Amino acid sequence: MFKDLCHFVSVVLLASASIAAQAPLKDAGPAMPVNKFAAQNDWWKHAVIYEIYPRSYGDSNNDGTGDLNGVTRHLDHLAQLGVDAIWITPCFPSPQVDFGYDVSDYRDIDPQYGTLADFDRLVAEGKKRNIKVILDFVVNHTSDKHRWFLESAKSKNNPYRDYYVWQDGKGEGQPPNNWTSTFGGPSWTFSQNTNQWYYHFFYPQQPDLNWRNPKVEKEMFDVTRFWYQRGVYGFRLDAVDTLFEDPNLTDNPPATGTDAYGMPKQLHSYDHRPAEVHAELKKLRKVADEFPGRVLIGETWTETPAELAEYYGSTNDELQMPMYFNFTKIKQLDANEFREKVAAIESNSAHGWPVYVLSNHDIRRYIDRYGTAENKDQVAKVVSALYLTLRGSAIMYYGEEIGMENNDPKRVEDVKDVIGKKGWPQEIGRDGERTPMQWNASVNAGFNQGAPPWLPVDANYVTHNVAAETSDPHSILNWYRQLIKLRRDNPAFYEGDYVSLNEADPNTMSYLRKSKNSTAIVALNFTAQPQTITLDTASIGKSAGRVLAATDFQRKTLDFRKIVLEPYGVVIAEIGR
Ligand code: GLC
Repeated sequence: MFKDLCHFVSVVLLASASIAAQAPLKDAGPAMPVNKFAAQNDWWKHAVIYEIYPRSYGDSNNDGTGDLNGVTRHLDHLAQLGVDAIWITPCFPSPQVDFGYDVSDYRDIDPQYGTLADFDRLVAEGKKRNIKVILDFVVNHTSDKHRWFLESAKSKNNPYRDYYVWQDGKGEGQPPNNWTSTFGGPSWTFSQNTNQWYYHFFYPQQPDLNWRNPKVEKEMFDVTRFWYQRGVYGFRLDAVDTLFEDPNLTDNPPATGTDAYGMPKQLHSYDHRPAEVHAELKKLRKVADEFPGRVLIGETWTETPAELAEYYGSTNDELQMPMYFNFTKIKQLDANEFREKVAAIESNSAHGWPVYVLSNHDIRRYIDRYGTAENKDQVAKVVSALYLTLRGSAIMYYGEEIGMENNDPKRVEDVKDVIGKKGWPQEIGRDGERTPMQWNASVNAGFNQGAPPWLPVDANYVTHNVAAETSDPHSILNWYRQLIKLRRDNPAFYEGDYVSLNEADPNTMSYLRKSKNSTAIVALNFTAQPQTITLDTASIGKSAGRVLAATDFQRKTLDFRKIVLEPYGVVIAEIGR
């Protein structure tokens, strides 16, 4: 399921970091891009949604851990980038066993991250900049320290007993069935108090909720209303695939080999996606529809477009945005593979709006998946050009806009993520993709004023940071800004069809984005060698066009009969308006 699965001491720099960290938030000025879709109910269709891991974005109180005020402080960066919404990974009270994905209270903010008042300020400041806030809703499980679970574990007849999945074992010391947890070990834990086992698809500290209990359903629906009323624009639903399990608790069939934690592998036939999940999501959608413009995004791990289609619902009455994760499974920068994956989603387009994802807090950054030490910046530009110019919405991960790299732990003693501690060295955990955001070249990359960050800043912060890249017109950051502006301003990108071109070429990808009034061409070189694309201009109707964006920034016009691309080169040109 998951990825196969310096201190810079200078008194002068320390002082400047401290000034930067304390600088007051400016009001959004005229330089901010205008978002013409912000007031529409289907704003999300044109959106770039930006994922923030709050522990790692900005540390306003200098305790080593990021917080909500640290996010608010940096909203101007996000407005300049042009994103429409931020998705904040869980910031609710939590024992932090899984860094917030173990919630102990769904209606408050963890003191590490701030207060409800800080949250309200973030929403209000976001609104001034047309940036909507989306929260992460951990629907499958709570923390074992949640009041409901503490009650539930007390006795078999406790009113909260059926909030969770409790079962007798098969025999003395034997769990109810053979299901294994994706985080290692059996997915059942025995409770001596009542001589029963409780179910957890993830850690034992993350007991699964029993969604067949109408009381659970009501509590959880009301949680969403609580946040909608506070101005939240939607939720990213965590782990929806495992919301239900087979009611008969049928054993999973075996698979070959052992997992990173030493358990025999199995096919997750009975603990994943029973049909009931769709009926439940329809109801959750109805609650969202009580509030205009609210959107549900799903962590939907599917193999085929048909499986993904089910999450939209037959009449688009489930999730508006089930994530398409198949790009994250591509191991090399291979034009054919990317083209096939796009074609699969396009052939599915009757079912819903595509939602592209390349990296997140569970998945190695794409720059490390596809790049080498020599070409990472070029890879960042060509891959971002692909997913930001496709038809659909894009969900980006903080730091990708400046070319942040994975900073993986080298020794098990340094690992913070429990799956890395348990699965080392086969599973090194997810710390590498969760390191502090790089704001400038001062101490701790401007993440805070010098307290040791919870994870080490990557060494590339000296060159790859927001301040340095803002002043370099050819930086990755300015490339992202240019692409996001293009997809927002040009109808070919915000409403055009996708038409694949030159499909036999294994080295390049090229396609049209074609709306009623505007057509553009995108040409991408996925190799370290120059490539030439020869197009049939009869089908395009024109032989040359104006360049809208190009990695070779000297380029002003493009001859469609012979498109010459430098290594990892990108050119985007207008065919007509
Ligand atoms: C999701 C989250 C991941 C978390 C898991 C358990 O997959 O993305 O970070 O560990 O759910 O909540």
